[in-house]
Amino acid sequence: MNTHESLPTLGGVNMNDDFIPLSVPFLGGNESRYVQECIETNWVSSVGDFVNRFEDMVARYVGCSHAVATVNGTAALHIALIVAGVGQDDEVIVPTLTFIAPASAIRYVGAWPVFVDVEPVYFQLDLVKLRAFFEKSCHFEGDNLVNNDSNRRIKAIIPVHILGHPVDMVELNKLARYYNLIVIEDATESLGACCGDIKTGNLSSIACFSFNGNKIITTGGGGMIVTNNGSWAERARYLTTQAKDDPLEYIHNEIGYNYRLTNIQAALGCAQMEQLDHFIATKRQIAARYQEHLGQIEGVTVAGEAPDRFSTFWLYTILIDPTITGITSRQALQSLAAHAVQTRPLWHPLYSLPPFSNCQAIDIVQANHIYERALSIPCSVSLKPSEQMLVIEHIQQLIRTGGLCRKST
Ligand SMILES: Cc1ncc(COP(=O)(O)O)c(C=O)c1O
Repeated sequence: MNTHESLPTLGGVNMNDDFIPLSVPFLGGNESRYVQECIETNWVSSVGDFVNRFEDMVARYVGCSHAVATVNGTAALHIALIVAGVGQDDEVIVPTLTFIAPASAIRYVGAWPVFVDVEPVYFQLDLVKLRAFFEKSCHFEGDNLVNNDSNRRIKAIIPVHILGHPVDMVELNKLARYYNLIVIEDATESLGACCGDIKTGNLSSIACFSFNGNKIITTGGGGMIVTNNGSWAERARYLTTQAKDDPLEYIHNEIGYNYRLTNIQAALGCAQMEQLDHFIATKRQIAARYQEHLGQIEGVTVAGEAPDRFSTFWLYTILIDPTITGITSRQALQSLAAHAVQTRPLWHPLYSLPPFSNCQAIDIVQANHIYERALSIPCSVSLKPSEQMLVIEHIQQLIRTGGLCRKST
């Protein structure tokens, strides 16, 4: 999901000086100074002050008592599933409209994703459909919830706060408590978002963040597990550092993983954390400007914010209805690319991808609808208001002319 890596495949986007990228990092704080400090002190690998400092900063920010830094968000999800006790042939509920990583991590531990649709307004896990599935298609065997269809135990739910907007965690936690399910938040896209006044990452038993190149803060690549459960945190730290029982004699009593973040990456993370509140305020300003200028266009739906939830608007996404505007989201992507504006569709709904062809999918309607119409548009922290107005004008013109606008010379 690194925007830079995927540039050449994005519909021949015109990368001249006026190029407006979708979402790129802003490294204008103490990043160079802290990385230089790692080089000068020789602490460049997976142990060092910045790793501890970065963990403390994220834990304090989110409000959790423990944080364990990892090489990326996918590794964080993998370890979170293991420490939560999800294993072979368990089932885990996950939304079908998300980046693939949480579903892949479920498969890493031998468990099976059960894909659930998303609601149409904020594109988050549809809790009405989820409740109906539990009520109509599952039963209890002792304390365990069992899927009537597969006869497998449903062990956990992974709500994914996509695009920086939180899932309704009050309702989700009620459901999880009633059905005796563990909740593992995929908060990778939502650092700084809140339900009420509680931050995502602190709304479940264990949660994961990602700091890849396009996230609201970046360490190049990186992730973090956060939890209030001390023994889970200790186990996560053990598993992410090769399960070393005696580091001197190289005694390992189980298979671990080489999943720790390096000090250099953590140095970037510390500098990025110092700027996070500013990044969020900027993303919200960008969102407000899009809402103001695109919100009135018939056939275009702008992203909003649910009551009692606080979105970071990490990745700003609009829907384009081709039956009203005369153009599809993919035609809009091509047309904007010709104007050197990078945009991107949302993820292909996971339930219909080959690796998940034998997984169950529950009443998927909205995810398909959103996937066809969605377009994420430029929202880097460094996006200048004048650049954003250009993007807005291109989109307005595109819709006015039914997609027939051409780059002016
Ligand atoms: C929803 C979601 N989950 C998990 C990940 C995985 O994070 P990473 O790329 O750091 O492995 C990402 C980001 O790429 C994501 O968007």
